[in-house]
Amino acid sequence: MKEEQTKHLWWQEGVFYQIYPRSYQDSNSDGVGDLRGIIKRLDYLKWLGINAVWISPIYPSPMADYGYDIADYTGIHPLFGNMDDFDELLKEVHARGMKLILDLVPNHTSDQHPWFLESKSSKDNPKRDWYIWKDAKPDGSPPNNWLSVFGGSGWEWDETTQQYYFHAFLKEQPDLNWRNPEVHEAMYDVMRYWLDKGVDGFRVDVMWHMVQDEQFRDNPPNPNYEPHMATYEQLMPVFSTDQPEVHDIVREMRRVLDSYDERMMIGEIYLPIHKLMTYYGSENDGAHLPFNFLLLSIPWNSEHIASEIAIYEGALPDGGWPNWVLSNHDQPRITSRVGEAQARIAAILLLTLRGTPTIYYGDEIGMRDVPIPPDEVQDPQGLNMPDLNLSRDPARTPMQWEDATNAGFSDAKPWLRLPEYYRRKNVKVQQNDPYSMLTLYRRLIQLRHEEKALNVGDYVPVYSDKQVLAFIRQYHEQRLLVVLNLTHRPSYFRVKNMTLKGTVILATAPEREGNTVEDYFSLGGDEGIIVRLEEGT
Ligand code: GLC
Repeated sequence: MKEEQTKHLWWQEGVFYQIYPRSYQDSNSDGVGDLRGIIKRLDYLKWLGINAVWISPIYPSPMADYGYDIADYTGIHPLFGNMDDFDELLKEVHARGMKLILDLVPNHTSDQHPWFLESKSSKDNPKRDWYIWKDAKPDGSPPNNWLSVFGGSGWEWDETTQQYYFHAFLKEQPDLNWRNPEVHEAMYDVMRYWLDKGVDGFRVDVMWHMVQDEQFRDNPPNPNYEPHMATYEQLMPVFSTDQPEVHDIVREMRRVLDSYDERMMIGEIYLPIHKLMTYYGSENDGAHLPFNFLLLSIPWNSEHIASEIAIYEGALPDGGWPNWVLSNHDQPRITSRVGEAQARIAAILLLTLRGTPTIYYGDEIGMRDVPIPPDEVQDPQGLNMPDLNLSRDPARTPMQWEDATNAGFSDAKPWLRLPEYYRRKNVKVQQNDPYSMLTLYRRLIQLRHEEKALNVGDYVPVYSDKQVLAFIRQYHEQRLLVVLNLTHRPSYFRVKNMTLKGTVILATAPEREGNTVEDYFSLGGDEGIIVRLEEGT
């Protein structure tokens, strides 16, 4: 019999929150958010009930990919502040009983990183092999057909040394060569630098990209490619991503973390579920949380979601801890994908499913993607493929704090525009509104902290049809039933051979709270309820 896990770790019990630092809070009036700005908002995060904060990259960077092109892994970009500011941030996060997670980008550096400058200086430079250099084909064309995620070939010709280098993302983001042991050591030193400071873990960028086929074989065409998709989708990246050797690297990273107390890593991995699961490691010695992006990739349909939750739960390895995400800085926001009313249902789902939830900043007030006029586009993905509406800027706009200039984000012109309606959609307005999205999020988070069933209990599917999704979270005798209407129309159902009786403890329409429900469930459109079930039902 499976032994029941009784003690859970902070990253299993906690609610995570992602901050995109450029857009959270500006403290020095340059229109860009910074570390001192984040410090100023920590009390808000504490009030909300957040346990761990992940901040996107804050390191020195030419900003070709807004910080995901790192020129110094152990420094702070002056835009965000300096190391004293960072140390203070870490101290203040810890003082509030929260944890701090940094973004680690081990797949590639900036082309301005000293390692790459050395590597490209000559073919016999000791760091030449730290990156992926290859001769041209006899006709001068790239070594193989691998594409860049951001458009065009994945290979860039270097005139000086007459070879191509590989870049899975921008040409300003050359891929490190993880077949070279020196690269391993250099990156683990980076990890130790931050862990020694007391950082609680890392979100590891594009983990599944880290190592490529040793024979550099061509990727096959994707039979499902359609012209509205990014050009990268033309091929199936079977030789340029998710290679078996990646798991050795992840295991080594894990060992670095395990030499400290209770640190953790989240892996950014966009792969089908059965592949995703391999990143937990064959002995549970891989990523603590391989990010589960199901809820941001599948259609918003109750039957579909019900079956995907079950598939995910069923595929988890023994000891593998689940996790859920609705949005991030690379994807459209949940409110823009499913609408405001359903975003409330999504919030309940995120905060009542089994596993660690990560909230993307601004989702808690229902921020929408903000349209960015063509001449204001910043994101290279948008600029490189202008006709495909792929810019990630709309989901990265400044946090809407209050009804003040630039929503209280900055005194200066913000790096990305705010929507005109920020004066009525912001934190301050919603903090005092019992029916707001923010209040819903805060109450859900509180409930999750109070109820073991929600926090660490089992997941038991109960019912789904074309409108409704219902499941129970159970911890010993405590059972909470979550019932969600994923459509706009009223829905009615009864679960065959099951008596369900209890009291509504949280609802999208709080007026329903305290009501008894029994057997027959009727829900309004876009309505969700959490019911404490009576024992014995
Ligand atoms: C990850 C990041 C994304 C970045 C890319 C390249 O997917 O989340 O923002 O552009 O890696 O580093």
